[in-house]
Amino acid sequence: MSTPQGDDASPFFSRHAAAYAQSPGHARGEDLWQLLDALDARPGQRACDVATGTGHTALALAERGVQVDAVDPTPAMLAEAERLAAERRVTDRVRLVRAAVDDMPLTAGAYDIVACRRAFHHFPDPPRAVGAMAQLLAPGGRLGVSDMCPPSDLAADINHLERLRDPTHREALTEDAWRTLLAQAGLTVRFWLLQEERTSFAQWLAPVSLEESAGRSVQQALQALPASRRDRLQGGRADGWLKRRLVFVAQR
Ligand SMILES: C[S@@+](CC[C@H](N)C(=O)[O-])C[C@H]1O[C@@H](n2cnc3c(N)ncnc32)[C@H](O)[C@@H]1O
Repeated sequence: MSTPQGDDASPFFSRHAAAYAQSPGHARGEDLWQLLDALDARPGQRACDVATGTGHTALALAERGVQVDAVDPTPAMLAEAERLAAERRVTDRVRLVRAAVDDMPLTAGAYDIVACRRAFHHFPDPPRAVGAMAQLLAPGGRLGVSDMCPPSDLAADINHLERLRDPTHREALTEDAWRTLLAQAGLTVRFWLLQEERTSFAQWLAPVSLEESAGRSVQQALQALPASRRDRLQGGRADGWLKRRLVFVAQR
């Protein structure tokens, strides 16, 4: 692992690192394959996986023969990534780098692919983060992102509930906000897939449980919403939840 940068270790992710390593959604969620296919990841390419967490995206890229720098500020998440890389026999194609998105000790213009999956909503400064990721791309290189994407009329509610569940949540962006940021960073959209899925409240809440205080706070805040917005969020079911995810690729 390269030299630690900054002190951005998150108590939330330190506590839940083992759960993320095993999470079926993170390890094998459909958006992983959609992202890799849309990125057209091929052997011999160089990739950077920003906010790699326990490394699911980085390891899948490495298994496609890509050389990956896997970046994350949380040591406990990187330790799981290191363990999984050994288990899957791809350590020679994965370099772990401890850093936050705003302070990555990496070479500008050095990557064919920059990936960021299920993590962008944690970043404190979205325009700066997109700029930092775009800067890593070689000319013609591709940025691939998968992240939650609320409808604009529910964005404030969803971001509020997400922050109660996970204090490291900053902001999930709407489609319009993404399009503006990408244009500002000089990137051209090549692939765009918005998916809506009905899931359960408990499933969305995981790895936080309904029994702990964060779980209870979310439930109370949900009940306090006007019925029309709560119904839309829950699809009219007391245990329902609306999940919306955007997967896109944009080229430099
Ligand atoms: C849900 S995990 C990422 C999942 C992973 N990309 C995957 O495909 O399985 C979110 C990660 O974001 C990282 N993170 C939080 N704030 C960050 C920041 N400012 N810069 C980079 N990574 C950050 C956390 O340490 C955590 O490991």
